[in-house]
Amino acid sequence: MGRRARPHRAGRPGRAGGRRPDRPVRRRRRAARGHRGLTVPRAAVATPRDLTGRTVVVTGAGRGSIGLATARILADWGAEVVVTTRSAPVPAPLGDAVAWHPLDLADRDSVDAFAAWLLDRYDGRLDTLVNNAGIHLDLRSTWTEPPLVDGHEIHWRTNYLGTVQLTRLLLPALLARADDGGEARVVHVVSKLHRRGSNVALHDGVEPYDSWAAYGTSKLALVHDAAELYRRHGDRGLRACSVHPGSVFTHIADHGLETSPVLGRLRALAAPLERRILLTPEQGAQTTLHCVADPDVRHGYFRDCAPAEPSVDALDVVAAQQLWERTDAWLTETR
Ligand SMILES: NC(=O)c1ccc[n+]([C@@H]2O[C@H](COP(=O)([O-])OP(=O)(O)OC[C@H]3O[C@@H](n4cnc5c(N)ncnc54)[C@H](OP(=O)(O)O)[C@@H]3O)[C@@H](O)[C@H]2O)c1
Repeated sequence: MGRRARPHRAGRPGRAGGRRPDRPVRRRRRAARGHRGLTVPRAAVATPRDLTGRTVVVTGAGRGSIGLATARILADWGAEVVVTTRSAPVPAPLGDAVAWHPLDLADRDSVDAFAAWLLDRYDGRLDTLVNNAGIHLDLRSTWTEPPLVDGHEIHWRTNYLGTVQLTRLLLPALLARADDGGEARVVHVVSKLHRRGSNVALHDGVEPYDSWAAYGTSKLALVHDAAELYRRHGDRGLRACSVHPGSVFTHIADHGLETSPVLGRLRALAAPLERRILLTPEQGAQTTLHCVADPDVRHGYFRDCAPAEPSVDALDVVAAQQLWERTDAWLTETR
């Protein structure tokens, strides 16, 4: 069936007789679709807020990452932002407006040094900690024996223990800010793959070993940690969330496939297609931004800028409490 021509198509956007005005909501949606226009998936969009006067740490802001996009947008919203990578200096698009410091979550001395630098720089006060850095290695599931760091499986050591070490070192600064200003926030970037983890594996390890289950278990532990942080400190004004960013085109899979040069090359060839079907880093940042900035967000698991249901294991309060206590011992052991 043919369409009838409309009489007033020629007018410019926002002018009488033309298309409807370009309202802020539509502009935001278009921005979140990214520069590739309609070909990329739609994503929920966080409402921009004025974050002037708030200091936000975003870990893992390497080139092309969700963390970099998150930091850039937070700086646009007025926040004072600190980003980390393991060694490369702050990526160029962020420029001077954002401070950078090295941080390796798998190295306790590096975590200690970063926390000490931050506490000194910001006088023992921090508004928001975005624990975004993470790894997902061995995407081909070829490992039967995983690499160990300080005696722990590498995803567990990096994604969970390193993140929690940092969070506990910065907790006094977050609580000090909550006492002064009424609130402080922790946002753990997790994954819907936390469903591949289990509460049994939190304590006994993934048996038989599978890197996807190990990644999932490290993220499940972070969902528990956010929930437990809120249960323990919510009454003082600490808000704590975990976030699934969506399936996002970043460098995470490069590292996961680096053991296979052939698959790495195939992936490079498929990159244009992947870019079309995955979210952009800016889109992947939206739920984190929502949890950092929305005044109504207090705790829970979020995806698409809205509360969501985590796995059944993630709702087990006793498992979360036991994990918290056992983590104290693990963190002491790695000293
Ligand atoms: N991409 C997705 O589809 C997806 C889906 C679900 C969840 N996530 C989660 O989203 C977060 C961001 O991932 P991404 O996709 O943006 O990946 P990415 O491009 O690989 O970025 C990950 C960042 O984490 C940092 N990092 C890695 N190992 C580290 C360590 N040992 N210590 C400190 N920092 C470390 C990297 O630092 P360097 O710059 O030094 O390499 C990098 O900046 C991760 O937690 C990931 O699990 C991603």
